[in-house]
Amino acid sequence: MALDRKPAPNDLNAFWMPFTANRQFKKAPRMLVAAQDMHFTNSQGRQILDGTAGLWCCNAGHCRPKITEAIQVQAAELDYAPAFQMGHPKAFELANALVGMAPEGMDHAFFCNSGSEAVETALKIALAYHRVRGEGARTRLIGRERGYHGVNFGGISVGGIVNNRKFFGTLLAGVDHLPHTHLPQNQWVKGQPEHGAELADELERIVALHGPETIAAVIVEPVAGSTGVILPPKGYLQRLRAITQKHGILLIFDEVITGFGRLGAPFAADYFGVMPDMITCAKGLTNGVIPMGAVLTSGAIHDAFMTGPEHVIELFHGYTYSGSPIAAAAGLATLETYREEGLFERAADIAPYWQEALHSLRDLPHVIDIRNMGLIGAVELDPIAGEPTKRAFEAFLAAYDKGILIRTTGDIIAMSPPLIIEKTHIDELIGTLRDVLKAA
Ligand SMILES: Cc1ncc(COP(=O)(O)O)c(C=O)c1O
Repeated sequence: MALDRKPAPNDLNAFWMPFTANRQFKKAPRMLVAAQDMHFTNSQGRQILDGTAGLWCCNAGHCRPKITEAIQVQAAELDYAPAFQMGHPKAFELANALVGMAPEGMDHAFFCNSGSEAVETALKIALAYHRVRGEGARTRLIGRERGYHGVNFGGISVGGIVNNRKFFGTLLAGVDHLPHTHLPQNQWVKGQPEHGAELADELERIVALHGPETIAAVIVEPVAGSTGVILPPKGYLQRLRAITQKHGILLIFDEVITGFGRLGAPFAADYFGVMPDMITCAKGLTNGVIPMGAVLTSGAIHDAFMTGPEHVIELFHGYTYSGSPIAAAAGLATLETYREEGLFERAADIAPYWQEALHSLRDLPHVIDIRNMGLIGAVELDPIAGEPTKRAFEAFLAAYDKGILIRTTGDIIAMSPPLIIEKTHIDELIGTLRDVLKAA
């Protein structure tokens, strides 16, 4: 590809970049200008192997023709339709396809535009659900330390990442947190860790403190991604389910990362065999191409709202772009691509190879832990004394210079490649990372 095909913009000042070290970036920009399948092309014309499916979202790889075409056709046919008191066929089709793919019992889909909005929507539905059933005292929300549930106020309140919270005031009132499940005993474990199921029992302590009749919902990521890949110990999610059920508390799985095949099953709820009351999803729903999120709910939750006079709105919540035509078209084409290409099964098949490749990095300098599940992998590095995050960030920059895209959070390197990844790509990704870490 010609080096000057798509020159980098020459003034980078106006754009305040999200979750980015802006000054560092603007001194040495990393511009992506094209993508196909497993690769980005950068503004120097260099191919970059995508080790992160964009931001955990391009599960089918990049610029897949079916999805691109669906968007083009939809934009020319029906660009937009009002989301309130009006409908269009594709939103209904997508809702059907989605609940058809979701775990048994997830019968309804409420659309929004992102993972953060899916979380806000689920928390609001939880509160309103109890209220419409006459249990309006259930207002308390329980999250978990180190949880990531997006960046809106509900999400950062139930979330547990200190830098995402501490700058933003008092957050929501009435929120408690379970302990995270990252235990030293589980260091170097391949796949699901053995120790820590009892950490779910902390919920009993919180319930005893406040009274079950005040608690609306517990929200957790089945596998915590953005905090640096924390896995649920064997039996932990089952225990959380049993305790929430016992006390009439809703359980929400935030599957923004784990949804759509990341673990080799459609959802983490399938993978672990644990059925929550609601699932939030986004990212892979449209292969990351058009912003879209959704909340999947059980029939019982939906039906609790379907009372009263029929001309009255049942849930006072929604977005201008809830289920918008182009996003719905992208979603449908994405789900078809997953199905036609058997991508979830593919992820399950290649996961053991991924696991062994990742764990081959164990003896490299500064590597203090490796974690994996499905097509998720994390390599934790020993922080430089007094300069947390720096070692991993430098590894990220060095990796990019060598032609691979990884992600870092704190001093943890997290990877989540597209589900179309081949063994040769895994070899290249892990081989390059090995070279980077050797020099770290
Ligand atoms: C578990 C989880 N929930 C919510 C979000 C927020 O999604 P978005 O960035 O689309 O708002 C993310 C994003 O990474 C996530 O991992």
